Amino acid sequence: MASVLVQLVVPCICVTLASFCWTAHASDPDILFDYIVPQNTIISTLDGSFFTFTGMRGIFDSPTPPNVKGTQASMVEFPALNGQSVSMAVLQLAPGGINAPHSRPQATGCLFLVEGSLEVGFIDTTNKLYTQTLQAGDMFIFPKSLINYQYNANANKTAIAIAAFGSAKGGFVSIPATLFEDGIDDNILAKSLKTDVATIKQIKAGLASFCWMAKASDPDILFDFIVPANTNITELDGMFFTYTGMRGIFDSPTPPNYKGTQASLEEFPALNGQSVSIAVLQFSPCGINPPHTRPRSTGLLFVVEGCLEVGFVDTTNKLYTQSLQAGDMFVFPKGLIHYQYNANEKEPATAVAAFGSANSGSVSVPTTLFETGIDEEILAKAFKTDVATIEKIKAGLAPKS
Ligand SMILES: *[C@@H]1O[C@H](CO)[C@@H](O)[C@H](O)[C@H]1NC(C)=O
Ligand SMILES: *[C@@H]1O[C@H](CO)[C@@H](O)[C@H](O)[C@H]1NC(C)=O
Repeated sequence: MASVLVQLVVPCICVTLASFCWTAHASDPDILFDYIVPQNTIISTLDGSFFTFTGMRGIFDSPTPPNVKGTQASMVEFPALNGQSVSMAVLQLAPGGINAPHSRPQATGCLFLVEGSLEVGFIDTTNKLYTQTLQAGDMFIFPKSLINYQYNANANKTAIAIAAFGSAKGGFVSIPATLFEDGIDDNILAKSLKTDVATIKQIKAGLASFCWMAKASDPDILFDFIVPANTNITELDGMFFTYTGMRGIFDSPTPPNYKGTQASLEEFPALNGQSVSIAVLQFSPCGINPPHTRPRSTGLLFVVEGCLEVGFVDTTNKLYTQSLQAGDMFVFPKGLIHYQYNANEKEPATAVAAFGSANSGSVSVPTTLFETGIDEEILAKAFKTDVATIEKIKAGLAPKS
Protein backbone atom coordinates (compact mmCIF):
# COMPACT_ATOMS: atom_id res chain seq x y z
CA MET A 1 0.00 0.00 0.00
CA ALA A 2 2.86 2.36 0.80
CA SER A 3 4.19 2.16 -2.74
CA VAL A 4 0.76 2.86 -4.16
CA LEU A 5 0.55 5.94 -1.98
CA VAL A 6 3.91 7.20 -3.17
CA GLN A 7 2.90 6.69 -6.78
CA LEU A 8 -0.35 8.50 -6.47
CA VAL A 9 0.80 11.59 -4.62
CA VAL A 10 3.55 12.49 -7.08
CA PRO A 11 2.60 16.04 -8.02
CA CYS A 12 1.77 17.09 -11.53
CA ILE A 13 5.28 18.39 -12.30
CA CYS A 14 6.17 14.75 -12.96
CA VAL A 15 3.63 14.51 -15.75
CA THR A 16 5.34 13.60 -19.01
CA LEU A 17 4.40 15.87 -21.85
CA ALA A 18 4.29 13.72 -24.93
CA SER A 19 4.90 15.37 -28.26
CA PHE A 20 1.73 16.79 -29.68
CA CYS A 21 0.47 16.10 -33.16
CA TRP A 22 -1.79 18.92 -34.30
CA THR A 23 -3.30 17.23 -37.32
CA ALA A 24 -6.21 14.77 -37.28
CA HIS A 25 -5.37 13.04 -34.00
CA ALA A 26 -4.91 15.72 -31.38
CA SER A 27 -3.97 14.00 -28.16
CA ASP A 28 -3.58 15.35 -24.66
CA PRO A 29 -0.65 14.63 -22.36
CA ASP A 30 -0.82 11.64 -20.08
CA ILE A 31 -0.45 11.46 -16.35
CA LEU A 32 1.38 8.35 -15.21
CA PHE A 33 -1.36 7.38 -12.77
CA ASP A 34 -5.08 6.81 -12.85
CA TYR A 35 -5.60 9.99 -10.81
CA ILE A 36 -3.73 12.32 -8.49
CA VAL A 37 -4.81 12.73 -4.88
CA PRO A 38 -3.89 15.59 -2.55
CA GLN A 39 -0.86 15.06 -0.35
CA ASN A 40 -1.46 13.15 2.91
CA THR A 41 -4.49 11.37 1.48
CA ILE A 42 -4.87 7.86 2.85
CA ILE A 43 -5.64 5.87 -0.29
CA SER A 44 -7.57 3.14 1.52
CA THR A 45 -10.14 5.73 2.64
CA LEU A 46 -10.61 7.06 -0.88
CA ASP A 47 -14.10 6.47 -2.27
CA GLY A 48 -16.46 7.73 -4.96
CA SER A 49 -17.03 11.04 -3.18
CA PHE A 50 -13.47 12.17 -4.04
CA PHE A 51 -14.45 11.95 -7.71
CA THR A 52 -17.75 13.79 -7.14
CA PHE A 53 -18.41 17.55 -7.15
CA THR A 54 -21.67 18.71 -5.61
CA GLY A 55 -21.08 22.47 -5.78
CA MET A 56 -23.39 22.94 -8.77
CA ARG A 57 -26.51 21.44 -7.14
CA GLY A 58 -29.54 23.66 -7.71
CA ILE A 59 -27.67 26.04 -10.00
CA PHE A 60 -30.31 25.85 -12.74
CA ASP A 61 -33.09 26.61 -10.25
CA SER A 62 -31.32 29.52 -8.55
CA PRO A 63 -32.45 33.07 -9.32
CA THR A 64 -30.50 34.73 -12.14
CA PRO A 65 -27.57 36.70 -10.79
CA PRO A 66 -27.27 40.30 -11.99
CA ASN A 67 -25.30 40.71 -15.26
CA VAL A 68 -23.12 37.60 -15.49
CA LYS A 69 -22.02 34.81 -13.20
CA GLY A 70 -19.55 32.07 -14.01
CA THR A 71 -19.45 29.09 -11.65
CA GLN A 72 -16.39 26.95 -12.18
CA ALA A 73 -15.65 23.33 -11.51
CA SER A 74 -11.91 23.38 -12.12
CA MET A 75 -9.17 21.67 -10.12
CA VAL A 76 -9.34 24.53 -7.62
CA GLU A 77 -12.91 23.68 -6.62
CA PHE A 78 -12.69 20.01 -7.57
CA PRO A 79 -9.24 18.56 -6.79
CA ALA A 80 -9.96 15.20 -8.48
CA LEU A 81 -9.60 17.05 -11.82
CA ASN A 82 -5.85 17.45 -11.23
CA GLY A 83 -4.04 15.90 -14.19
CA GLN A 84 -7.27 14.96 -15.99
CA SER A 85 -7.18 17.80 -18.55
CA VAL A 86 -10.86 18.65 -18.39
CA SER A 87 -13.06 21.07 -16.47
CA MET A 88 -16.43 22.79 -16.72
CA ALA A 89 -18.18 26.02 -15.88
CA VAL A 90 -21.80 27.16 -15.84
CA LEU A 91 -22.37 30.61 -17.25
CA GLN A 92 -25.54 32.54 -16.34
CA LEU A 93 -26.25 35.79 -18.14
CA ALA A 94 -29.13 38.00 -17.05
CA PRO A 95 -31.08 39.83 -19.78
CA GLY A 96 -28.57 42.32 -21.21
CA GLY A 97 -25.75 40.62 -19.27
CA ILE A 98 -22.26 40.58 -20.75
CA ASN A 99 -19.22 38.44 -20.09
CA ALA A 100 -16.68 41.11 -21.02
CA PRO A 101 -13.78 40.34 -23.38
CA HIS A 102 -11.46 37.79 -21.79
CA SER A 103 -9.19 34.93 -22.74
CA ARG A 104 -8.50 31.48 -21.33
CA PRO A 105 -4.74 31.03 -21.65
CA GLN A 106 -4.74 27.29 -20.88
CA ALA A 107 -7.70 25.94 -22.80
CA THR A 108 -10.12 26.15 -25.67
CA GLY A 109 -13.67 26.64 -24.46
CA CYS A 110 -16.57 24.73 -25.97
CA LEU A 111 -19.73 26.61 -25.01
CA PHE A 112 -23.04 24.70 -25.05
CA LEU A 113 -26.06 27.00 -24.80
CA VAL A 114 -28.73 25.29 -22.73
CA GLU A 115 -31.30 28.08 -22.49
CA GLY A 116 -31.96 31.47 -24.10
CA SER A 117 -29.93 33.01 -26.89
CA LEU A 118 -26.45 34.50 -26.95
CA GLU A 119 -24.30 36.77 -29.10
CA VAL A 120 -20.76 35.45 -29.06
CA GLY A 121 -17.49 36.30 -30.73
CA PHE A 122 -13.74 35.91 -30.72
CA ILE A 123 -10.85 37.63 -32.46
CA ASP A 124 -8.07 35.56 -34.03
CA THR A 125 -4.41 36.58 -34.24
CA THR A 126 -4.96 38.21 -37.64
CA ASN A 127 -7.47 40.50 -35.88
CA LYS A 128 -10.39 38.95 -37.67
CA LEU A 129 -13.59 38.90 -35.62
CA TYR A 130 -15.81 35.81 -35.76
CA THR A 131 -19.33 36.29 -34.41
CA GLN A 132 -22.42 34.15 -34.11
CA THR A 133 -25.93 34.32 -32.69
CA LEU A 134 -26.53 31.11 -30.77
CA GLN A 135 -29.86 29.45 -30.05
CA ALA A 136 -30.48 26.96 -27.26
CA GLY A 137 -28.74 23.69 -28.13
CA ASP A 138 -25.95 25.34 -30.17
CA MET A 139 -22.27 24.98 -29.41
CA PHE A 140 -19.48 27.43 -30.16
CA ILE A 141 -15.70 27.09 -29.95
CA PHE A 142 -13.48 29.77 -28.46
CA PRO A 143 -9.95 28.73 -29.46
CA LYS A 144 -7.41 28.75 -26.65
CA SER A 145 -6.05 32.14 -25.59
CA LEU A 146 -8.07 34.20 -28.08
CA ILE A 147 -10.02 37.16 -26.76
CA ASN A 148 -13.73 36.41 -26.68
CA TYR A 149 -17.02 37.61 -25.23
CA GLN A 150 -20.61 36.51 -24.66
CA TYR A 151 -23.57 38.87 -24.59
CA ASN A 152 -27.23 38.16 -23.82
CA ALA A 153 -29.03 40.59 -26.12
CA ASN A 154 -32.47 39.31 -25.12
CA ALA A 155 -34.12 41.79 -22.76
CA ASN A 156 -36.46 39.25 -21.19
CA LYS A 157 -34.76 35.90 -20.97
CA THR A 158 -31.78 34.63 -19.00
CA ALA A 159 -29.17 32.73 -20.98
CA ILE A 160 -27.58 29.64 -19.43
CA ALA A 161 -24.59 27.86 -20.91
CA ILE A 162 -22.31 25.00 -19.95
CA ALA A 163 -18.70 25.51 -20.95
CA ALA A 164 -16.24 22.62 -21.27
CA PHE A 165 -12.47 23.18 -21.19
CA GLY A 166 -9.69 20.85 -22.28
CA SER A 167 -7.67 21.64 -19.17
CA ALA A 168 -8.21 21.08 -15.47
CA LYS A 169 -7.76 24.81 -15.11
CA GLY A 170 -8.59 26.90 -18.16
CA GLY A 171 -7.44 30.11 -16.55
CA PHE A 172 -9.21 33.40 -17.04
CA VAL A 173 -7.75 36.71 -18.12
CA SER A 174 -10.25 39.54 -18.11
CA ILE A 175 -9.18 42.14 -20.65
CA PRO A 176 -10.76 45.07 -18.78
CA ALA A 177 -9.25 43.86 -15.49
CA THR A 178 -5.84 43.12 -17.03
CA LEU A 179 -5.67 46.52 -18.65
CA PHE A 180 -7.23 48.69 -16.02
CA GLU A 181 -6.77 46.95 -12.67
CA ASP A 182 -3.23 45.61 -12.73
CA GLY A 183 -1.41 48.88 -12.23
CA ILE A 184 -0.47 49.68 -15.81
CA ASP A 185 0.35 53.39 -15.84
CA ASP A 186 -2.60 55.63 -16.75
CA ASN A 187 -0.44 57.52 -19.26
CA ILE A 188 0.55 54.33 -21.06
CA LEU A 189 -3.09 53.26 -21.21
CA ALA A 190 -4.20 56.68 -22.44
CA LYS A 191 -1.56 56.57 -25.21
CA SER A 192 -2.38 52.96 -26.13
CA LEU A 193 -6.06 53.69 -26.41
CA LYS A 194 -5.51 57.11 -27.99
CA THR A 195 -7.49 58.88 -25.29
CA ASP A 196 -6.76 61.04 -22.22
CA VAL A 197 -5.90 60.13 -18.62
CA ALA A 198 -9.27 61.40 -17.35
CA THR A 199 -11.05 58.86 -19.56
CA ILE A 200 -8.79 56.07 -18.26
CA LYS A 201 -9.53 57.06 -14.65
CA GLN A 202 -13.24 57.04 -15.44
CA ILE A 203 -13.03 53.55 -16.91
CA LYS A 204 -11.04 52.31 -13.91
CA ALA A 205 -13.60 53.67 -11.48
CA GLY A 206 -16.37 51.77 -13.26
CA LEU A 207 -14.75 48.36 -13.23
CA ALA A 208 -15.20 45.78 -10.53
CA SER A 209 -12.41 43.27 -10.14
CA PHE A 210 -13.23 39.89 -11.65
CA CYS A 211 -10.46 37.37 -12.11
CA TRP A 212 -9.97 33.63 -11.92
CA MET A 213 -6.68 31.79 -11.72
CA ALA A 214 -4.10 31.13 -14.40
CA LYS A 215 -1.82 28.06 -14.33
CA ALA A 216 -1.34 24.45 -15.51
CA SER A 217 -1.08 23.81 -19.18
CA ASP A 218 -2.14 21.46 -21.95
CA PRO A 219 -0.19 21.15 -25.20
CA ASP A 220 -0.40 23.80 -27.87
CA ILE A 221 -1.28 23.75 -31.53
CA LEU A 222 0.75 26.17 -33.62
CA PHE A 223 -2.31 27.93 -35.02
CA ASP A 224 -5.46 29.55 -33.68
CA PHE A 225 -7.52 26.78 -35.26
CA ILE A 226 -7.27 24.15 -37.98
CA VAL A 227 -9.55 24.24 -40.99
CA PRO A 228 -10.27 21.36 -43.38
CA ALA A 229 -8.14 21.14 -46.53
CA ASN A 230 -9.32 23.37 -49.40
CA THR A 231 -11.05 25.84 -47.08
CA ASN A 232 -10.95 29.41 -48.35
CA ILE A 233 -9.94 31.29 -45.19
CA THR A 234 -11.35 34.58 -46.44
CA GLU A 235 -14.80 33.05 -46.50
CA LEU A 236 -14.52 31.55 -43.02
CA ASP A 237 -17.02 32.98 -40.52
CA GLY A 238 -18.59 32.23 -37.15
CA MET A 239 -20.61 29.37 -38.63
CA PHE A 240 -17.47 27.17 -38.84
CA PHE A 241 -17.09 27.46 -35.07
CA THR A 242 -20.75 26.69 -34.40
CA TYR A 243 -22.39 23.28 -34.03
CA THR A 244 -26.18 23.19 -34.28
CA GLY A 245 -26.70 19.41 -34.19
CA MET A 246 -27.85 19.44 -30.55
CA ARG A 247 -30.76 21.87 -31.02
CA GLY A 248 -33.89 20.62 -29.30
CA ILE A 249 -32.10 17.69 -27.67
CA PHE A 250 -33.37 18.55 -24.18
CA ASP A 251 -36.97 18.71 -25.48
CA SER A 252 -36.84 15.50 -27.48
CA PRO A 253 -38.54 12.38 -26.09
CA THR A 254 -36.17 10.16 -24.10
CA PRO A 255 -34.80 7.42 -26.35
CA PRO A 256 -35.23 3.79 -25.19
CA ASN A 257 -32.54 2.64 -22.73
CA TYR A 258 -29.61 4.95 -23.43
CA LYS A 259 -28.46 7.35 -26.13
CA GLY A 260 -25.20 9.27 -26.34
CA THR A 261 -25.05 12.19 -28.80
CA GLN A 262 -21.53 13.38 -29.49
CA ALA A 263 -20.11 16.67 -30.66
CA SER A 264 -16.56 15.55 -31.32
CA LEU A 265 -14.08 16.01 -34.16
CA GLU A 266 -16.15 13.95 -36.58
CA GLU A 267 -19.41 15.86 -36.11
CA PHE A 268 -17.81 19.26 -35.46
CA PRO A 269 -14.55 19.72 -37.43
CA ALA A 270 -13.69 23.04 -35.73
CA LEU A 271 -12.72 20.96 -32.66
CA ASN A 272 -9.61 19.68 -34.48
CA GLY A 273 -6.59 20.49 -32.33
CA GLN A 274 -8.66 22.18 -29.60
CA SER A 275 -8.53 19.28 -27.12
CA VAL A 276 -12.12 19.49 -26.00
CA SER A 277 -15.48 17.93 -26.92
CA ILE A 278 -18.94 17.38 -25.47
CA ALA A 279 -21.60 14.68 -25.46
CA VAL A 280 -25.18 14.57 -24.23
CA LEU A 281 -26.22 11.35 -22.48
CA GLN A 282 -29.91 10.49 -22.22
CA PHE A 283 -31.18 7.64 -20.06
CA SER A 284 -34.70 6.30 -20.02
CA PRO A 285 -35.90 4.83 -16.68
CA CYS A 286 -33.56 1.90 -15.90
CA GLY A 287 -31.38 2.85 -18.90
CA ILE A 288 -27.72 1.84 -18.81
CA ASN A 289 -24.56 2.96 -20.58
CA PRO A 290 -22.69 -0.34 -20.25
CA PRO A 291 -19.04 -0.61 -19.15
CA HIS A 292 -16.76 1.18 -21.61
CA THR A 293 -13.53 3.13 -21.74
CA ARG A 294 -12.54 6.43 -23.32
CA PRO A 295 -9.00 5.70 -24.48
CA ARG A 296 -7.98 9.27 -25.21
CA SER A 297 -9.54 11.36 -22.49
CA THR A 298 -10.98 11.71 -19.03
CA GLY A 299 -14.72 12.30 -18.96
CA LEU A 300 -16.32 14.89 -16.71
CA LEU A 301 -20.02 14.07 -16.32
CA PHE A 302 -22.51 16.75 -15.25
CA VAL A 303 -25.99 15.45 -14.34
CA VAL A 304 -28.53 17.95 -15.64
CA GLU A 305 -31.73 16.05 -14.83
CA GLY A 306 -32.61 12.99 -12.76
CA CYS A 307 -30.22 10.72 -10.86
CA LEU A 308 -27.47 8.35 -11.96
CA GLU A 309 -25.53 5.50 -10.39
CA VAL A 310 -21.98 5.71 -11.71
CA GLY A 311 -18.75 3.86 -11.19
CA PHE A 312 -15.27 3.17 -12.52
CA VAL A 313 -12.60 0.59 -11.79
CA ASP A 314 -9.01 1.74 -11.37
CA THR A 315 -5.89 -0.20 -12.40
CA THR A 316 -5.67 -1.81 -8.95
CA ASN A 317 -9.17 -3.25 -9.63
CA LYS A 318 -10.76 -1.03 -7.01
CA LEU A 319 -14.31 0.03 -7.82
CA TYR A 320 -15.40 3.61 -7.08
CA THR A 321 -19.14 4.23 -7.15
CA GLN A 322 -21.42 7.15 -6.46
CA SER A 323 -25.12 8.06 -6.55
CA LEU A 324 -25.38 11.37 -8.36
CA GLN A 325 -28.18 13.93 -8.13
CA ALA A 326 -28.97 16.66 -10.64
CA GLY A 327 -26.20 19.26 -10.48
CA ASP A 328 -23.50 16.77 -9.45
CA MET A 329 -20.35 16.09 -11.44
CA PHE A 330 -18.21 12.97 -11.54
CA VAL A 331 -14.76 12.29 -13.03
CA PHE A 332 -14.03 9.15 -15.04
CA PRO A 333 -10.24 9.09 -15.36
CA LYS A 334 -8.86 8.47 -18.84
CA GLY A 335 -8.83 4.89 -20.07
CA LEU A 336 -10.57 3.32 -17.06
CA ILE A 337 -13.64 1.10 -17.43
CA HIS A 338 -16.77 2.91 -16.27
CA TYR A 339 -20.55 2.90 -16.53
CA GLN A 340 -23.65 4.98 -15.80
CA TYR A 341 -27.02 3.58 -14.80
CA ASN A 342 -30.38 5.26 -14.21
CA ALA A 343 -31.79 3.19 -11.34
CA ASN A 344 -35.02 5.16 -11.28
CA GLU A 345 -37.94 3.15 -12.70
CA LYS A 346 -40.06 6.18 -13.60
CA GLU A 347 -37.91 9.25 -14.30
CA PRO A 348 -35.43 9.71 -17.14
CA ALA A 349 -31.96 11.18 -16.57
CA THR A 350 -29.86 13.51 -18.70
CA ALA A 351 -26.18 14.40 -18.41
CA VAL A 352 -23.67 16.52 -20.29
CA ALA A 353 -20.17 15.07 -20.54
CA ALA A 354 -17.03 17.10 -21.29
CA PHE A 355 -13.86 15.47 -22.61
CA GLY A 356 -10.32 16.85 -22.65
CA SER A 357 -9.81 15.66 -26.21
CA ALA A 358 -11.47 16.48 -29.51
CA ASN A 359 -11.75 12.76 -30.14
CA SER A 360 -12.01 10.86 -26.87
CA GLY A 361 -13.04 7.57 -28.48
CA SER A 362 -15.26 4.96 -26.87
CA VAL A 363 -14.59 1.26 -26.40
CA SER A 364 -17.59 -0.76 -25.28
CA VAL A 365 -16.46 -3.70 -23.20
CA PRO A 366 -19.36 -6.03 -24.13
CA THR A 367 -19.05 -5.20 -27.85
CA THR A 368 -15.26 -5.45 -27.90
CA LEU A 369 -15.28 -8.81 -26.19
CA PHE A 370 -18.34 -10.51 -27.58
CA GLU A 371 -19.13 -8.92 -30.94
CA THR A 372 -15.80 -8.68 -32.72
CA GLY A 373 -15.15 -12.31 -33.56
CA ILE A 374 -12.78 -13.29 -30.75
CA ASP A 375 -12.71 -17.08 -30.71
CA GLU A 376 -15.32 -18.49 -28.32
CA GLU A 377 -12.85 -21.00 -26.90
CA ILE A 378 -10.56 -18.12 -25.95
CA LEU A 379 -13.40 -16.19 -24.32
CA ALA A 380 -14.57 -19.31 -22.45
CA LYS A 381 -11.04 -19.82 -21.11
CA ALA A 382 -10.65 -16.15 -20.23
CA PHE A 383 -13.87 -16.13 -18.23
CA LYS A 384 -13.31 -19.61 -16.83
CA THR A 385 -16.62 -20.75 -18.30
CA ASP A 386 -17.79 -22.90 -21.22
CA VAL A 387 -18.52 -22.10 -24.85
CA ALA A 388 -22.28 -22.55 -24.34
CA THR A 389 -22.28 -19.74 -21.77
CA ILE A 390 -20.33 -17.47 -24.13
CA GLU A 391 -22.82 -18.25 -26.90
CA LYS A 392 -25.68 -17.36 -24.57
CA ILE A 393 -24.10 -13.99 -23.77
CA LYS A 394 -23.51 -13.33 -27.47
CA ALA A 395 -27.12 -14.15 -28.30
CA GLY A 396 -28.28 -11.77 -25.58
CA LEU A 397 -26.16 -8.92 -26.99
CA ALA A 398 -27.19 -9.46 -30.61
CA PRO A 399 -29.62 -6.84 -31.99
CA LYS A 400 -33.23 -7.93 -31.49
CA SER A 401 -35.34 -8.10 -34.63
C1 LIG B 1 -39.60 41.92 -23.70
O1 LIG B 1 -40.58 42.42 -22.83
C2 LIG B 1 -41.11 43.68 -23.23
C3 LIG B 1 -42.03 44.20 -22.15
O2 LIG B 1 -42.80 43.15 -21.62
C4 LIG B 1 -41.80 43.51 -24.58
O3 LIG B 1 -42.33 44.74 -25.03
C5 LIG B 1 -40.80 42.97 -25.60
O4 LIG B 1 -41.43 42.70 -26.82
C6 LIG B 1 -40.13 41.71 -25.10
N1 LIG B 1 -39.04 41.38 -25.99
C7 LIG B 1 -38.80 40.13 -26.40
C8 LIG B 1 -37.59 39.95 -27.28
O5 LIG B 1 -39.49 39.18 -26.09
C1 LIG C 1 -11.53 33.12 -51.51
O1 LIG C 1 -12.70 33.88 -51.29
C2 LIG C 1 -12.59 35.25 -51.69
C3 LIG C 1 -13.87 35.95 -51.25
O2 LIG C 1 -15.02 35.23 -51.63
C4 LIG C 1 -12.34 35.31 -53.19
O3 LIG C 1 -12.20 36.66 -53.57
C5 LIG C 1 -11.07 34.54 -53.52
O4 LIG C 1 -10.88 34.51 -54.92
C6 LIG C 1 -11.17 33.12 -52.99
N1 LIG C 1 -9.88 32.46 -53.14
C7 LIG C 1 -9.76 31.27 -53.71
C8 LIG C 1 -8.38 30.74 -53.79
O5 LIG C 1 -10.71 30.64 -54.13
